[in-house]
Formats: sequence, C-alpha cells, structure tokens
Amino acid sequence: MTTATPSSQSAIPCTIAFIGGGNVARSMIGGLVGLGMPASDIAVSEPDATLRAALARDFGVVAHAANTDAVADADLWVLAVKPQVLRGVCEELAQHAKRIRPLVVTLAAGIPIGAVENWLRTDDQRPPPLVRAMPNTPALLRASATALCANAHVSAAQRGRAQALFEAVGLALWVDDEALMDTVTATSGSGPAYVFALVEAMQAAAVAQGLPADVARALIAQTVFGAGRMLVESGEDAATLRRRVTSPGGVTEQALRCFAEGGLDALIAGGIAAATARGAELAAVFAATETASVA
Ligand SMILES: NC(=O)c1ccc[n+]([C@@H]2O[C@H](COP(=O)([O-])OP(=O)(O)OC[C@H]3O[C@@H](n4cnc5c(N)ncnc54)[C@H](OP(=O)(O)O)[C@@H]3O)[C@@H](O)[C@H]2O)c1
Repeated sequence: MTTATPSSQSAIPCTIAFIGGGNVARSMIGGLVGLGMPASDIAVSEPDATLRAALARDFGVVAHAANTDAVADADLWVLAVKPQVLRGVCEELAQHAKRIRPLVVTLAAGIPIGAVENWLRTDDQRPPPLVRAMPNTPALLRASATALCANAHVSAAQRGRAQALFEAVGLALWVDDEALMDTVTATSGSGPAYVFALVEAMQAAAVAQGLPADVARALIAQTVFGAGRMLVESGEDAATLRRRVTSPGGVTEQALRCFAEGGLDALIAGGIAAATARGAELAAVFAATETASVA
C-alpha cells in the first residue's frame, strides 16, 4: 500500500555525504543549498575531477576524490552511483557504516534493499537504517516525483530526514511494500518518457496538418506544462479536469472518442504492466547473479 506522510519541513539532515556527484546528486545538492542548508554540511565524493570542481564552485560543498573521506563526518549517506558500481561502493564503506551507523539512502534503480544491506553488513552486524528511493529526471529542475521505501531499522525521525531530502527536489511519498517499487519505476520513474512519446505523436500530427514544427513544439510543450500545473495545483483529479474541457459535441470530445475507440486505456495499462514485469525480471536476473557470485 502506498501512503503519504506529512511533510517534514525542518527535518533536513545535519551532515550529508553524497557518494557519486552525477546528475541526481547535483540536483539534490542544488535543492538543499537552495533551501538554505549550509554547504559546509554537505560532502560529496566523485572520481571525475571536473565534476568535483564544478560541484565545489557552484554550491560551495566539499568535494572529495575518496568515498571514505566524504563519509567520515556524515550521518546520512546518499549512494548516488550507477547500479553496477553500487556493490563495490558499499563494500568499500562497510566498516565505516559499522562505526558511524548512518542513515543510508540508495538511489540505484532495481537493486533491492536486502542486497544493499548485505553489501554494507560486516560480521554479524545489524543492517544499517536504509531507504531505497526512486526519483525521476525532473529532479534536475527540482520537480521530481520520488517514491521512498524503508527497511525496518529506519526510525520515524530518519524517515523525516529522508523525506526532507527528496522534498528539496520535488514531491516525496512513501511506499510500504518494496515489491511496489517496480510499479513506481514503471509509472513515475519511466513516466517522463511516456509524456515525451505523447508529445512526439501530437507534434507529428500537428506538423502533418501543416503547423510549422517550431510552433507545434512550443504550443504542445506549454500545453503539457500548463496541464501538469493544473493537475498539481488544483488538487482536482484528471477525470474532472478532462470533463471540464470536453463540451458535448465539441472538438475535444471527438478526439477523446477516437482515442477510446483505439484502446488508449488498455494500451497504457499494457505498457505499464510490461514495464513493471521487466523491472521484476531484471531484479530476478540480478538476484541470480548475486547468488552465483557468493556460491
Ligand atoms: N537520473 C535519474 O533520473 C534517476 C532516476 C532514478 C534513479 N536514478 C539512480 O540514481 C543513481 C545516479 O544516477 P545519475 O543519473 O545521477 O548517474 P550519473 O550521472 O552517472 O552519476 C553517477 C556518478 O557516480 C560516479 N561514480 C562512478 N563510480 C563511482 C565510485 N566508485 N564512487 C563514487 N562515485 C562514482 C560517476 O563518475 P564517472 O562518470 O566518472 O564514472 C558519476 O559521476 C543511479 O543508480 C540511477 O539508477 C537515477
């Protein structure tokens, strides 16, 4: 079941280390600094010297080459590296996790909480408090939709910290059942691509009827932006907003009838089901690889 918890305005964590200073880390750091978090409370590690210099210059944060230097004073770690390097990063930081016992947030798509717990665990140590997050690309504009899922070791205060972290780049909601993270990935994670596909189709149709491409692009982009704002800011559901612009016998109704006859709803349901199944499949392949590598 998916639940929203109340916003936790002042719960921005005190000392954060970002491991990996790429796209998502950069947006989150920009969001936090923009909200007034002191840059001196944010550390980042990033192998690329140019990215490190840009992060230090643009936000005033301390940028390290070594992951172990970044986490040294941090009680919240954001693992913002690609899934394929996450295991190595966790194993490198496991001893530090044992000593510091930070709240760990992982962004890696498709990597289950249990795997990250195992990689960070040393001896018979309890797994650290861990949150798995799935943001989406509008994080770059601080307009992300992020779903969060926590393990059993995360306290209420830590949930507040994790939520505040992602609210710095947009909306953040909790999902109780980790299995639903595949649905999240197939819905909001991949969602921007679905909207872009719709825009491509609308643009092609308008251009085919003679509208100049640049005019079509600008009108449709602003239409998606305006419709999105109406959805977010009015608090009304999509069906109500749709009905309000659909006069009986009018032009909008004609297009919507055509979409319905073509099976638009079923097409979208099928696409999201296929994406969800693919996410589960990739997780299963990943689990099998993990089992083989420890056997
Ligand atoms: N982009 C999204 O919208 C989005 C959405 C949902 C989830 N995610 C997840 O968020 C994570 C980050 O995505 P991203 O788009 O920000 O990726 P990214 O731009 O590639 O950033 C990852 C950064 O980590 C650095 N890195 C590589 N190996 C490292 C290591 N061992 N230690 C520390 N840093 C290392 C990379 O440096 P080099 O380039 O020099 O290797 C790169 O700058 C991924 O796991 C992704 O699945 C992203």
